[in-house]
Amino acid sequence: MPDAVFDRMQQGTMRTVYRGVPFFKSPFDIALYLQLLSRQRTGTVIEIGTKFGGSALWFADMLTAHGNRDGRVVSVDIEHLVDFDDARIDFLHGDANSLDKVLTKDLLARCPRPFLVVEDSSHQYRETTAVLNYFHDHLRTGDYIVVEDGVVSRLSGEQYRRYDHGPNRGVADFLDRHGVDYEIDTDLCDRYGHNATYNPNGWLRRR
Ligand SMILES: C[S@@+](CC[C@H](N)C(=O)[O-])C[C@H]1O[C@@H](n2cnc3c(N)ncnc32)[C@H](O)[C@@H]1O
Repeated sequence: MPDAVFDRMQQGTMRTVYRGVPFFKSPFDIALYLQLLSRQRTGTVIEIGTKFGGSALWFADMLTAHGNRDGRVVSVDIEHLVDFDDARIDFLHGDANSLDKVLTKDLLARCPRPFLVVEDSSHQYRETTAVLNYFHDHLRTGDYIVVEDGVVSRLSGEQYRRYDHGPNRGVADFLDRHGVDYEIDTDLCDRYGHNATYNPNGWLRRR
C-alpha cells in the first residue's frame, strides 16, 4: 500500500467513534480483529492503552456478538480518561513498564482463555518491549499478542518521528530473541495486501 494511503486513512481513523466514544482503529484493523475473534473464540481481551475506552467497549461488544457471554476485557492505562462503566470491562490503572503490579498472576488466572493481548500504549520501543517481555511469560499456545501502530514509521507527519520506529523495532528485536515461540499471522497481516494493516508483522500467535 502506498504510504499516502496510510496518511489519508490516519485522518479518518483519528476521527472515528464507536457508540459515541473515540475509537482509534483503522478500517483494515477493525476487519482483521473480526477475523481473529471469529477464529480464536477469544476468552479475554487484555489491552494496554485504554485512552477513552472506545476500543475496550468495541472488544466487549464483539465478544458478546460472538456468543461469548463470559468474555472479559481488561484494559490498562497510565491515565484515567474513561467516563463510562461496563460490567464486562475492567479498567485498571497501571504502567506498561510494570505490568506485574497490575496484571497479577491471580488476576490472569481468573481470565478466560484464550487471550488476545493488544499492545496499544506509547508506541515507544521501551513500552513495546516491556509489554512483549511481560506477556511472553504468560501466553499459551493459541493466544495472540498484537503490537499496534507500527504504521507510525510510514506516516509522513513530523509528529510521528518521535516514535523512532518503536513498535516495529520492538517486534523485530523480540522475534530475534523469541521467534521460535511465535508465528507472524500472515493470513491477517497480508489479508488485504502485504501488511495492509496499522500493525505490520504485529499479529503474533503463540506457538
Ligand atoms: C493510542 S492510545 C489507546 C487507544 C485505544 N486503545 C483505542 O484504540 O481507542 C494510547 C494510550 O496509552 C496510554 N499510555 C501511554 N504510555 C503508557 C504506559 N507507559 N503505560 C500504560 N499506558 C500508557 C496513554 O495514556 C493513552 O491513553
